[in-house]
Amino acid sequence: MRSPAPPPPETPLPSSAEVTRWLSIGELATRSGVAVSALHFYEAKGLIESTRTSGNQRRFLPVTLRYIAIIKAAQRTGIALEDIKAWLQPYQSGRKLSSSEWARMSAAWRDQLNARIELLTRLRDELDGCIGCGCLSLAHCPLRNPGDALGRQGAGARLLERPLGTAYPQD
Ligand code: FES
Repeated sequence: MRSPAPPPPETPLPSSAEVTRWLSIGELATRSGVAVSALHFYEAKGLIESTRTSGNQRRFLPVTLRYIAIIKAAQRTGIALEDIKAWLQPYQSGRKLSSSEWARMSAAWRDQLNARIELLTRLRDELDGCIGCGCLSLAHCPLRNPGDALGRQGAGARLLERPLGTAYPQD
């Protein structure tokens, strides 16, 4: 499930006079707790941006730490990198994310999170029952899936993969 496209940013780009501090990649790694190699990966994927010194060393705005925190949190909850990128890209180059923008971003991800929570809850609660996979290996499979009737509806574990929001069939 993809989230909707992000709205345009509310805050302007900072002027060069407003930028008083730059971080090296080592400082960014130390403060964020993310390995330098992962920061290179994020940059290559367009999730964070840097500028270069005359000696070709990367320099990052401090707000990059906030983006990294968002990326880490979103990744932990299983949000796809393309989705994270789509939402963060309009705010790159040092724009600060306002609380209302963060609220819209998290609301856009809420449906995906709720879907994941429901699937994980099913795995936890239903994996010791018949999941309609066609194996007919449990004592109650004949009740839930007599003669593998569910297999005629399509492939996969038909009960485990049923549409979100539908209840597990009762006896
Ligand atoms: S658990 Fe596989 S068909 Fe019931």
